[in-house]
Amino acid sequence: MTVFSEETRARAREIIARYPADRSRSALLPLLHLVQSEEGYVSPAGITFCAEVLGLNKAQVGAVASFYTMYKRRPTGDWLVSVCTNTMCNVLGGQEVYDALVEHLGVGHEETTADGTVTLEHAECLAACDYGPVMTVNYDFFDNVDPKTAVGVVDELRAGNRPKPSRGARLCQLKEMSVQLAGFADEREGAVADGVPGEPTVRGLRLAQEHGIAVAGFDPNTPIRSKAEAEQAAAEAKAKAEAKPAAVSAGAAKESRPAGYAKPASDAKPAGDEAPVKERSLKDAAAGMGDAAGNERGADQ
Ligand code: FES
Repeated sequence: MTVFSEETRARAREIIARYPADRSRSALLPLLHLVQSEEGYVSPAGITFCAEVLGLNKAQVGAVASFYTMYKRRPTGDWLVSVCTNTMCNVLGGQEVYDALVEHLGVGHEETTADGTVTLEHAECLAACDYGPVMTVNYDFFDNVDPKTAVGVVDELRAGNRPKPSRGARLCQLKEMSVQLAGFADEREGAVADGVPGEPTVRGLRLAQEHGIAVAGFDPNTPIRSKAEAEQAAAEAKAKAEAKPAAVSAGAAKESRPAGYAKPASDAKPAGDEAPVKERSLKDAAAGMGDAAGNERGADQ
């Protein structure tokens, strides 16, 4: 049985830490991608690993892993070729593309070539109907394919080359892609910015720009952080959070306690000396909180 590497274990801890402690089971989907990144599929050992780190049983993990087609339950090739044979692509020739690959590769649905390089599958709608027929290689798109171009792509892959997808980042192998799907940045220099979006995809954006429609506060240049940048941002946020309490003096902290907040037991006066906390109005409490906020700002300055 596979013993997962320390790198995978560290990544598992990082994934789980992204979720509230009482909802750690929400980390299951990225964790399944993570174990797939080490073995190339979700093996029984991967199921056991996920169950152990999340405190679930294997039946619970297996039920999720077998529900989603992106989790492969058998060893899978370096290159997962998915051909859309759903309605739109089908009428445009998707089935012919799939059939040509079946014949050329000598494999059927979810089967892998003898050299272990290519796994073929037919896929439901890949959400790229405006480029049909489409196929993906490890979820990167090749648009408007026909039998000849599709065969050309798999021949290149089997020859050790990495043909350029029509859009998006440059190709990576299934294990590498699984790391990204687990929630970790593509560390290859410039890989994400390689491709350009297809014009049909950005048609709505173009129309919005033409008509002056914008989302308030939206930054179109929102960066995708690398791992190093994310770690630096987390360290800075942590340092800021740790520095803040030191800037607030004990006296200011006492003054900043809003009206309506219960006093510590040591400050308590005999009953009847003042109105019980529960009888204070929400308006009073809100006013007190406003005062407190002002005091706290003053303490920060
Ligand atoms: S039908 Fe093929 S991408 Fe939608």
